[in-house]
Amino acid sequence: MDIKRLRADFPIFNVQHQGHDLIYFDSASTAQKPQAVIDAVTNFYARNCANIHRAVHDLGEQATAQYNLARQTVAKFINAQAHETIFTSGTTAGINFIATSWGAKFIKPGDEIIVSISEHHANFVPWQQLAQQTGAVLKLINLTPDYQLDLIQYQKLLSVKTKLVSITYSSNVLGVTNNLDLIIASAKKFGAAVMIDAAQAVTYNQIDVQKLDCDFLVFSSHKIFGPDGLGVLFIKDTWHDQIAPYQFGGGMVASVDLNQTLFLKAPAKFEAGTMPISSAIGLMAAINYYQTNLPYEQLQHHLAKLCARLIAGLLNISEVKILGNLDLLIKQGHLVSFTIVGFHAHDVAAYLNQFGICVRAGHHCAQPLHDYLKIPATVRVSFQVYNSLEEVDYLLVCLHKLVKHGF
Ligand code: ALA
Repeated sequence: MDIKRLRADFPIFNVQHQGHDLIYFDSASTAQKPQAVIDAVTNFYARNCANIHRAVHDLGEQATAQYNLARQTVAKFINAQAHETIFTSGTTAGINFIATSWGAKFIKPGDEIIVSISEHHANFVPWQQLAQQTGAVLKLINLTPDYQLDLIQYQKLLSVKTKLVSITYSSNVLGVTNNLDLIIASAKKFGAAVMIDAAQAVTYNQIDVQKLDCDFLVFSSHKIFGPDGLGVLFIKDTWHDQIAPYQFGGGMVASVDLNQTLFLKAPAKFEAGTMPISSAIGLMAAINYYQTNLPYEQLQHHLAKLCARLIAGLLNISEVKILGNLDLLIKQGHLVSFTIVGFHAHDVAAYLNQFGICVRAGHHCAQPLHDYLKIPATVRVSFQVYNSLEEVDYLLVCLHKLVKHGF
């Protein structure tokens, strides 16, 4: 991978930020977009714009063909079938979809749902609400002292009462890949359904829903260089006839009369209204970009090298405390979260912004995790292919300056 050449594919790096070259360390929040994605979206609006599934004119047919191809591209990307690959508005929408449509039918009082303490709110609040509405019980997998999911404790949570395990593939704060094989196999022994939040993992990891053997999986387009407002929800086809649509409207019905509505088969059944067509076409371009330019092994190696350099530097600042498993982050990380004694995370982020450096600060929509660790907020540095060791070194220089001289 030629990092310099790849970085040149992202036009945002031609723009100065606060009078400096942009150093973008916030890709876990949203990734920057390569020109190929911007062009795909622009071309759709400039040349092919029409609604899908509704028109007999050429433009409508071209748009439909592009949208269908986008679905096939995404399906292949995660090793699903096209009709199992549902477009939503994002990871959050996908989880809410399952919590609402699947949850309403399959969760009863006394049932148990298991999530981990390290979930993003998107994979926590929907289950908490569902449990409160139905009288089910939400159970939590805690962390071991070295910041990994406590899989021994997890085994003790499982029982015939467990109806769902919904778990992040990789925490957006701790940054390491969870042992999903064991988590999923154990859940299946008790007949529980499994949902995977792959919003973070999809950015650096090959997703294979068949190998995982999960029931549901979600991720967002915008974190893998695609447009925002678009998510992917994998629903294993054995569930299709058992789950009601999340939303009702045009484009998903076979027929409607005054007394009843018959739905189309999936995926149409699960996609009501006009879909984010340009974003699906943009996501297709993003996946093509990933597959052409970013072999996962090389990408992971690059990201881990950046983590290792950052961690080595942070360990030289005595005021810094890193959250996470350092050994794993050095080997396979893509982000690092930390605190600095005497400085609030938001102030650190604002300070770095003056030097053209973008990081995220706060609880990263993972408040239960921060409460559990008794830390109100962290600074998070997250990497993508366009980041370099020189950028990490510059960040470290700025942090040293901050600690030594203050604001
Ligand atoms: N989930 C995104 C993040 O971690 C927004 O920043």
